[in-house]
Amino acid sequence: MTSVPTGLAHLSKSLKPKHSKVDPMAANALTYDASACEFLIGNQRGELLERLHQARQETLADVELLRSGGDVPADKQPLDSGFIDLPQRLLNGEDGLLQRMETSARHLRESIDRMVVLGIGGSYMGLRALFEALCDPYHNERPRSKRNDCPRLYYEGNNLDNDSISALVDLLQTQCTDPADLAQRWGIVVISKSGGTLETAVAFRVFREALENYYGQNSAASRELVIPITGEQGKLRDFSQSKGYGTTFPIPDGVGGRFSVFTAVGLYPAAVLGIDIRALLQGAADITEQFRTAPVGENPVLDYVATCHLLERDHGMDLRVLSTWGKGLEAAGLWYDQLLAESLGKQEQGATPLTVVNTRDLHSRGQQHQEGKRDRVITNVIVETPSRESVELPAVDDSLDKDQLNRIAGKAFPELLQAAIDGTNKAYADDGRPTADLTLPRLDAYAVGQLLQMFMLATVVEGRLIGINPYGQPGVEAYKKNMGDILYGG
Ligand code: PA5
Repeated sequence: MTSVPTGLAHLSKSLKPKHSKVDPMAANALTYDASACEFLIGNQRGELLERLHQARQETLADVELLRSGGDVPADKQPLDSGFIDLPQRLLNGEDGLLQRMETSARHLRESIDRMVVLGIGGSYMGLRALFEALCDPYHNERPRSKRNDCPRLYYEGNNLDNDSISALVDLLQTQCTDPADLAQRWGIVVISKSGGTLETAVAFRVFREALENYYGQNSAASRELVIPITGEQGKLRDFSQSKGYGTTFPIPDGVGGRFSVFTAVGLYPAAVLGIDIRALLQGAADITEQFRTAPVGENPVLDYVATCHLLERDHGMDLRVLSTWGKGLEAAGLWYDQLLAESLGKQEQGATPLTVVNTRDLHSRGQQHQEGKRDRVITNVIVETPSRESVELPAVDDSLDKDQLNRIAGKAFPELLQAAIDGTNKAYADDGRPTADLTLPRLDAYAVGQLLQMFMLATVVEGRLIGINPYGQPGVEAYKKNMGDILYGG
């Protein structure tokens, strides 16, 4: 990795992130526009520059530190900076892993019609974000031919909810009665970095037993149709070895759970679902390069951090609303909720994330955003061009125009949505409430790769800026210990 220029002279002449793009040449580059926050930020952005620059330097230096294999100082532990250069490494063919995942994913896709993915937290939210953003919203309801010959997807192991797990076992048992019929074959992808997370481990036992009953206790299928994705060591790895599962994929040391979406954790099941994982990685690699080299004002990662940080520091706006304008982005928002909360919610610091989906939530949370406490910054996530053909509002005979919608007949839904976005932003601006826009030209794998990697980088940079180690989640251990004491008797 080449070094980043250190002097302020290398940074942008204009510090205002009017429209920072990943790569102006890339057809599908995301942009970040915080001009509607400038009235509160003023020249504070310039004063933050040096520290922002240092936070970027530290973030990138941590990649080198991790890769060098040298001693990690105590105040840097844990250090999970491995996610930063991983997309490019995978694209470069490191360990042949990408190809191995694609080959195995194709095989699994052709072998089953239902994929049960077990995992929680970082071993669950990333895949869900990819699936909801990039697959048909009615994927599971479509016949196989209309879902690109990919299996249906179910999640479990993300709760201890009796009725939820029971319902899925029941669904599989009632709908799958002939293992010789592809339409009735199912398999398990079990994901746990530590290999010891209770929710995932207990679900794995339950579904494994169902699977072995279905295909036969010692059948080849009962070994081939279970794909463990786990860390280099741990109970799940040990179990997989003793069981003789043919295919397992690693979650590398140095990549933390909520930063693992571009490891096999997200990539492998995404590939089974027919998602273009190379485009995902390319988007992630491109924004990483932009983060590494572009000046403030043209750097979506640094510009986003600067805006959010200054509004929090100087105006007490410690609620981060991710305002997604499209149902396909809701799970990406929930993934970000986890990322920000678990990374920076430490030492009584860290903004509180909140995802909304508009226009749905204008009818629930909108009132508070408009007139409630001035404690929030709203970041809109906007997709410019829909993935499917536009739906136009039909005209009706005048005698039936009781809803008076003929005035806008012929307009398409994207136009209606744009009016809602513009109207909402204006209403907030008129009341002095800050908003910023993150715009994706389309909701495709390249754009989603950029978006998720941008948020991961921004979270780490902000952590370094405020003196919080963004990696690790020591606070989660307390409940686990108590639960263990209760279940295992101390
Ligand atoms: O970000 C994290 O590390 C956590 O949210 C984990 O992903 C989550 O606790 C699941 O852990 P594991 O993958 O070890 O089962």
